[in-house]
Amino acid sequence: MIKRITTIAELINLRRKHSSENKKVGFVPTMGALHEGHISLFKKSVAENDLTIASIYVNKTQFNDPTDYNNYPRDIEKDIELLENAGVDVSFLPTYEEIYADNYNYRIVENSLSKVLCGKSRKGHFEGVLTVVLKLLNLVQPAKAYFGEKDYQQYSLIKKMCEAFFINTEIISCPTVREIDGLAMSSRNLLLTNQERIMAANFYRLLKQEKDIYKVKVELEKLGFGVDYIEDIDQRRFGAVFLGKVRLIDNVEL
Ligand code: PAJ
Repeated sequence: MIKRITTIAELINLRRKHSSENKKVGFVPTMGALHEGHISLFKKSVAENDLTIASIYVNKTQFNDPTDYNNYPRDIEKDIELLENAGVDVSFLPTYEEIYADNYNYRIVENSLSKVLCGKSRKGHFEGVLTVVLKLLNLVQPAKAYFGEKDYQQYSLIKKMCEAFFINTEIISCPTVREIDGLAMSSRNLLLTNQERIMAANFYRLLKQEKDIYKVKVELEKLGFGVDYIEDIDQRRFGAVFLGKVRLIDNVEL
């Protein structure tokens, strides 16, 4: 049976026990509504560590849009079952009151990479992400923590934050898991209508197929996508689009 922890006191107790037993702990932070993309991270952690802890916490401070926060898919009981099947040992489901006992008075600010791509259109997003990830890493103190390349900008920022603050955790990236038609798996895919879901496959197809970013933009807009950005940075092409109200992101190596 997977252990279910909701308070910081319980987590600290559990970690004391593991440290005294010299157990190597892997950690996978998530916001739930789990899918095969998350599961690939759990499996890697389970394979590489003595014990895997996964957190499920919909982190309010990283949502620039309150409607997006309210509509974010939540299904804790199904998630716990998925965690158990993937071999995760401990689930950590903290509350806002405990994570932000300071009411988000202290926060992590990064001044370059967090200001472009998703950071440009989602004000404060990466401050919320970096702050919660630092808090979680300090609580869990894992040897390794796992992040998906689907959110490549997030992964890069977290890796560099850990270097900057001498965090004793190895930050590991995992390849993007896709649906059969190429769409990157995402909790937000659940919010697409059937028609939007079929259309969504064109995002990845055009992102990797077209040579020219302007052509990608034009083709996507022709198909009815709202384009937030398509940009090439460091041999990687990043994109963010809207289908109706749902925002999708993806990236491919060039
Ligand atoms: P969430 O969107 O739930 O994603 C949790 C982890 O799963 C992230 O590292 C993300 O990159 C990874 N992931 C999501 N979809 C994936 C896919 N299709 N293939 C591979 N990995 C995938 O990212 C967050 O939550 C939050 O910002 C968080 C880091 C938990 C901080 O609140």
